[in-house]
Amino acid sequence: RSLLPFNTLGIEARAARYAEAKSDADVCDAIHAARGLGLPLRVIGGGSNLVLTADVEALVLRMASRGIRILADAGDEVVVEAEAGEPWHPFVRHCIDLGLSGLENLSLIPGTVGAAPIQNVGAYGVEIKDAFVGLTAMDRQTCELRDFDLNACQFDYRDSIFKRAPERFVILRVRFNLRRMPVLKLDYGPLRQRLQHDGIERPTAADVSRVVCAIRSEKLPDPAQLGNAGSFFKNPLVAESVAATLRQEYPDLVAFPQPDGQVKLAAGWLIEKAGWKGYRDGNAGVHQHQALVLVNYGGASGGAILALAGRIQADIANRFGVELEIEPNVL
Ligand code: EPU
Repeated sequence: RSLLPFNTLGIEARAARYAEAKSDADVCDAIHAARGLGLPLRVIGGGSNLVLTADVEALVLRMASRGIRILADAGDEVVVEAEAGEPWHPFVRHCIDLGLSGLENLSLIPGTVGAAPIQNVGAYGVEIKDAFVGLTAMDRQTCELRDFDLNACQFDYRDSIFKRAPERFVILRVRFNLRRMPVLKLDYGPLRQRLQHDGIERPTAADVSRVVCAIRSEKLPDPAQLGNAGSFFKNPLVAESVAATLRQEYPDLVAFPQPDGQVKLAAGWLIEKAGWKGYRDGNAGVHQHQALVLVNYGGASGGAILALAGRIQADIANRFGVELEIEPNVL
């Protein structure tokens, strides 16, 4: 089965076996089927954080379960649960339409509800952990269900227990604590500025969502038009002394001090500064408007994308002494 329709980088690769799960029982069946075939099981959602480097010698299971429900409604706070296969952005829209805020900054992120906790998706000052209450996952050994609360997920920047141990659990559904009285997060400068510029003094969650969509559409390529997997590298954390040394040479260095004393550098800035923005080699390239995003102009292999990523990593290490870590999952 070709996986071309199931990865937003638009890479042609085949799966030894392919199945879709619409229910918990389907997931358990796939676990048993993979075991019977002697194949590993690889679970995918929207395929928007995935680099396929070869045909996948596995049973690829795409989560296609649907359903959104309100579990608790205590006046201001409402707990909403969504099945793993729900597409992320329509789910965010649905919550906003219900008058619930908390996820609006995460508008237009590609992918599915079930994939979002794996890398603790984040954008414009909010991470999924900020609105997260819990999730239910299936143990891949026993098909038993297990609930994870916020602490159990061990969320970190683009990281969680599920990212570190991908073979152990399949996420089935996720619960969020949303608010009727909007508590908006407008820390991200361009978001606040755009709202001011539009003359919106008391923004609603819907206003924030609209502006986030506008900002994303300008910077980030639409996977339906140009293959990509979002940010290809994590923003690197370095010691304050490293940032200070770099700042002497590059006064315009973009760096964000972290609570733990480290400094987060903007990988996009480093890559642009090194001259890679808009670079193209065959069908693999660096996006013209966001240097952190690698793009497939059509027909590039996963190997070609990774080769380009490797050249960028080597150049950034050489120039700035900073290691860039690849962000999407490489299969
Ligand atoms: N920058 C440049 N040149 C570039 C890109 C960025 O100089 O080509 C500078 C910007 O001017 C800005 C800074 O780098 O000062 C940060 O840029 P931006 O706000 O666009 O965000 P980012 O750090 O590049 C991260 C996330 C994105 C998320 C945005 C917005 C990671 C790996 N990426 O990107 O997430 O949308 O912040 O919050 O943390 C994703 O994970 O796939 C993703 C798109």
